[in-house]
Amino acid sequence: MTVIAVVPGDGIGPEVTDEAVRLLDDMRLGLEFDHLDEVNATTFRRTGAGMSPQDFERIRSSKSVLFGAIGAPGVNNSEYGRGVLIKMRFELDLYVNHRPAFLWEDRLSPLRDERRRNVDCVIVRENSEGLYVGVGGRVRADTPHEIAIDEEVTTYHGVSRVLDYAFSKARKSVCLVDKSNAVPNGGNLWQRCWRDAVEKNPGIDCSHLYVDAAAMRLIADPSAFDVIVTSNSYGDILSDLTAQLAGGLGMAASANLNPETGFGVYEPVHGSAPDIAGRGTANPLGAILSAALLCEGIGLTEAALAIRGAVSAAVSAGRCTPDIGGSLSTREAGAAVRAELG
Ligand code: NAD
Ligand code: IPM
Ligand code: MN
Repeated sequence: MTVIAVVPGDGIGPEVTDEAVRLLDDMRLGLEFDHLDEVNATTFRRTGAGMSPQDFERIRSSKSVLFGAIGAPGVNNSEYGRGVLIKMRFELDLYVNHRPAFLWEDRLSPLRDERRRNVDCVIVRENSEGLYVGVGGRVRADTPHEIAIDEEVTTYHGVSRVLDYAFSKARKSVCLVDKSNAVPNGGNLWQRCWRDAVEKNPGIDCSHLYVDAAAMRLIADPSAFDVIVTSNSYGDILSDLTAQLAGGLGMAASANLNPETGFGVYEPVHGSAPDIAGRGTANPLGAILSAALLCEGIGLTEAALAIRGAVSAAVSAGRCTPDIGGSLSTREAGAAVRAELG
């Protein structure tokens, strides 16, 4: 049996993860689930850490992880998140955050111009450095003279390996998104690595956009993009944008990956959504499509294709949650996908 660690987390995390696990279980793929139900804000409040060292070991010794979402009103979300999600990304060196966006149904696009609606792109987000390293500090904290510093770290190794991954996923093109016109040092390093990567990959259409223009171009014509490679923080922001272009956060899936070890943490792009938690209305498709990415990551390619086919059929039939125009509950929407699988 292949052990998959399941970390549901907070808010709608458990609601949507449950549907993804039910689906994988139903498919009889030889997976065994190790449920880590104590990784959450309650544990953080009680112990000061959202994830115990023992739980981290269970994660590390699994084949891969299915993750829901973390975050709760009233907790220090940066301290909590750094001890759970960012800890996994950094300590397991999951240096790629692969965030595909695909428009399953034309009616889900917020764009007026139907010729430009077709989103089928991947944000390849650098996931191990940048502004997320937590290097910095505060001087004269809690006074009117406070100084706060968060360093952005960019390394040759980090940038070149994520560019290599981006090119390995290109079907047509790769677009580098940065802010090298204003951020000189890291910007220069991204540009140097980019020139080397472009030279190594003839035959792939390469382009470069500054992040402000990229946000504009993504709204103007998302159909022009295939792979977009960018830094940790720009990837975070642009992947919510591409999610919305493809039907909303409820459907967006992601994979935190180390392509060398094959280890992955698979999670919907969305957070714990406290505004709708407990109502049973959260869209489980982001979690279910993350389960499809997990299948792909551990070599179950046919299962991944089957899940995507079932999602597409359920959405086409309008058998989905209210955020994407249906009237089903989370549970019913999960069941609708399972029914499509037969
Ligand atoms: P969010 O993604 O939780 O919610 C943004 C909006 O999208 C909300 O209106 C929410 O109701 C809606 N939404 C999200 N997922 C949905 C779904 N599956 N179905 C239907 N609607 C959905 O972002 P936020 O409100 O900025 O953050 C809430 C908490 O989640 C914060 O504590 C934040 O730090 C955390 N967060 C965690 C992760 C993660 O664990 N990977 C990601 C993002 C945010
Ligand atoms: C995401 C989230 C996280 C991030 C937060 C919760 C730290 O927004 O996975 O996109 O910024 O990476
Ligand atoms: Mn985010």
